[in-house]
Amino acid sequence: MLHAKISGIGYYVPEKVVTNNDLEKVMDTTDEWIQERTGIQERRYGKKHLETTTTMGARAATIAIERAGISKEEVDFIIFATLSPDYYFPGCGVLVQRELGITQSEAGALDIRNQCSGFVYGLSIADQFIRSGMYKNVLLIGAEMHSMGLDFSTRGRNVTVIFGDGAGAVLLQPTEDPDKGILTTKLHSDGTFAEKLAFENPGAHGGYHLDKRGEAHDLQYSDATYGEMFINEHMIQSGQIFPVMDGQFVFKMAVQKFPEVIMEALASANLTTSDIDMLIPHQANLRISQFVQRKLGLRDDQVWNNIQRYGNTTAASIPIALCEAIEAGAVKPGDLVCLAAFGSGFTWGSALLRW
Ligand code: COA
Repeated sequence: MLHAKISGIGYYVPEKVVTNNDLEKVMDTTDEWIQERTGIQERRYGKKHLETTTTMGARAATIAIERAGISKEEVDFIIFATLSPDYYFPGCGVLVQRELGITQSEAGALDIRNQCSGFVYGLSIADQFIRSGMYKNVLLIGAEMHSMGLDFSTRGRNVTVIFGDGAGAVLLQPTEDPDKGILTTKLHSDGTFAEKLAFENPGAHGGYHLDKRGEAHDLQYSDATYGEMFINEHMIQSGQIFPVMDGQFVFKMAVQKFPEVIMEALASANLTTSDIDMLIPHQANLRISQFVQRKLGLRDDQVWNNIQRYGNTTAASIPIALCEAIEAGAVKPGDLVCLAAFGSGFTWGSALLRW
């Protein structure tokens, strides 16, 4: 049966390394606190004014396309996953098409906003397009330029220390080989706790959700026009234009949902945890990955972690980690690779693929 396989993969991380000690200089935090709670030692930040989510995505995409052995003009669909787009709209899908110089092809471009599970969702979408026979060369990119949207004061330290910039991309093509490619994908969501990890402003909520939490009055909306409710000086001054996160709540949900969705994928493919050769968890927090590893009974060499060096790169974390694992020879042809992600929404998902 027709399904998708990854024919080319690439990643790009910016040159600038930002250590925990560098963050100590701008906010009240310590290397010890960050490493103990998250495992993160350093992360990368893109070059201001010179790099964006789109340009980093394009660098990763160029490598993926070259490795797939096709020309960029042959890409017939683009999927771009990010929570830190260059613009509110249009999305990075069309911007990367322009950056790659392939607008003449008029290939479709789709942006998906599923945060940390964006890459797994994108993989599933690409697989469905390929299974249906609609497209033959689907480019999937996950990229983030978090550094442009974080609060570097002590107020934002619980979120800011976690995130880093980077991009990963894959080029997917059809195969009929049952021993190669994507075996299954599982996608889930539960919007009950949407604001537990969110970037609310600017936005068209007009204070609606905030009001339910009894906080809208702070926003002084009473005399505001609609436009001022979308973004205003008060939001900027009070830091409401930065992401918010209830870290402990997110942690508890993540350690429950990661193993659940991995077991679901394995069961649907008639496989067990002992069949997994390599688990690539979304790099949310090293403690979360270690918990999942223990729960599934996997050895250290069966789980790829690089959060120590890059922090959490959201939609980019899985393709960067997968690409590194392949380049290091830790994933070999025929291996069963399990990808899994959990994040804001909440949304979560998994994918099993035979490399
Ligand atoms: N440096 C130093 N102290 C910090 C800090 C920082 N960067 N960030 C928060 N703190 C402080 C808090 O203010 C709090 O201080 P208090 O006890 O005086 O009030 C204390 O550390 C504990 O904060 P808490 O948020 O309870 O810490 P935690 O043990 O839950 O660790 C996270 C915080 C964010 C590392 C952890 O909750 C986490 O990783 N959660 C999951 C997040 C995640 O994966 N997000 C992405 C999902 S895809």
